[in-house]
Amino acid sequence: MAKNKLKRFAAVKDFPHFYEPIINEPFPLKGKWRQDHFKNDNPIVIELGCGKGEYSVGLAKHYLEKNFIGVDIKGSRMFVGAEEALEGGMNNVAFLRTRIDFITDFFGEGEVDEIWLTFSDPQRKKPRKRLTSPLFIERYRKILKPGGIVHLKTDSDLLFEYTEEQINDHKYDCLELTWDLYRELPENIDPVTREIFHIKTHYEKLFTAKGSVIKYCKFKID
Ligand SMILES: C[S@@+](CC[C@H](N)C(=O)[O-])C[C@H]1O[C@@H](n2cnc3c(N)ncnc32)[C@H](O)[C@@H]1O
Repeated sequence: MAKNKLKRFAAVKDFPHFYEPIINEPFPLKGKWRQDHFKNDNPIVIELGCGKGEYSVGLAKHYLEKNFIGVDIKGSRMFVGAEEALEGGMNNVAFLRTRIDFITDFFGEGEVDEIWLTFSDPQRKKPRKRLTSPLFIERYRKILKPGGIVHLKTDSDLLFEYTEEQINDHKYDCLELTWDLYRELPENIDPVTREIFHIKTHYEKLFTAKGSVIKYCKFKID
């Protein structure tokens, strides 16, 4: 790891809203995030593969009545969002360092209200590893409350087409789906929703610079 990354990784571990579970030990916040971390009864929204956490922090600024948790395996990336939340005194954001594959070890049944997938790796050669594959959806089903929502924002045609197929094949309840988010945003959309869609993550900026069109869908899996 480069020196700067190592520094960030070391620093983030001391943040009070950053969690790095101990392997083979039960995670104490599982089923208790509201009670023991956020100290409120507000809905919980998680961002999987959050990178620098732009969505977790950006959403948290707009929705003070919800709790947000960014999840990623890369602690040095999450440092960026975690530091912003700390310096901004935001008490509705937390971060969890883990592989998403083990997500059911860290959230209780029905504990999560919404999941955001932001610019997830399309996993060209490994469909099973895509974050909208049946394998992952079954994991989400265990932690999402009934009626819980999955959002996907992506540049990837492959991942988006695959996800659309999954929605159709498994009859998920598709609430919104657009192959060109920014062109199809209605003129009269409310200002907060417009701002939410315009949160630009690190990877979105990279992909947009290369000419990618941004796609978005929102669906229920129960
Ligand atoms: C393409 S980046 C997108 C990051 C961020 N959402 C953005 O839009 O800038 C994908 C992120 O997912 C994380 N990731 C990929 N697979 C993962 C897994 N199985 N468990 C945890 N994190 C994962 C990577 O570490 C990386 O930060």
